[in-house]
Amino acid sequence: MSMQPFIADHPLIRHKVTFLRDENTGSKQFRELIQEITELMMYEATRDLPLCDVEIKTPITTTTCQVIAGRKLAFVPILRAGLGMVDGALELVPAARVGHIGLYRDPKTHLPVEYYCKLPSDIDERDVFVLDPMLATGGSAVDAISQIKKRHPRSIKFICIIAAPEGMAAITKAHPDVQVYCAALDERLNENAYIVPGLGDAGDRIFGTK
Ligand code: PRP
Ligand code: URA
Repeated sequence: MSMQPFIADHPLIRHKVTFLRDENTGSKQFRELIQEITELMMYEATRDLPLCDVEIKTPITTTTCQVIAGRKLAFVPILRAGLGMVDGALELVPAARVGHIGLYRDPKTHLPVEYYCKLPSDIDERDVFVLDPMLATGGSAVDAISQIKKRHPRSIKFICIIAAPEGMAAITKAHPDVQVYCAALDERLNENAYIVPGLGDAGDRIFGTK
């Protein structure tokens, strides 16, 4: 059975995604919004981290409280646009390791082409969060997750900001064990496999290229 995707409905996320979509939003604000939305998404995606009890002394008394139970995490952005999400994720979990997977979509076929892969050596002991703001056809996400699975991580979650139904279907079919978190589920893809209404080319908007 495949995991149900998490689709955010928080007003702060909806508000920030609106400004992310707006074509008048420049690169500086776009990067800030990607980081803020990633923090809010990671807050949800880390909700099931296990806790353990510790005894501490407050200025008043001794008490039993909880801390995260030593779980090791890894963040793996898909280059380029996923890089925009790394700082937001590290803001919440500074001790996480960061791997990188380089993929670009061939402009004609829209199929992903891999050009880089460097993952933490102990990834088999880690819970992996794959980061990419856009889930369009799903080709890049499906390929990146297949690469990571070859190294047998403990678990994989996929965190994106805007998803198309086509990409959501592709990832749940290929990787039913991977939970997908998205800030918005859009209508469809256009003839160039861009998300509608979407936000355009995320990498170009983050890095100011065209
Ligand atoms: C974008 C985006 C995803 C991919 C999504 O990257 O960041 O990685 O497209 O499309 P898909 O679901 O159809 O595979 P792009 O290929 O434009 O590369 P870039 O980030 O280096 O610009
Ligand atoms: N990649 C993007 O950056 N935007 C889209 O809409 C689709 C793929």
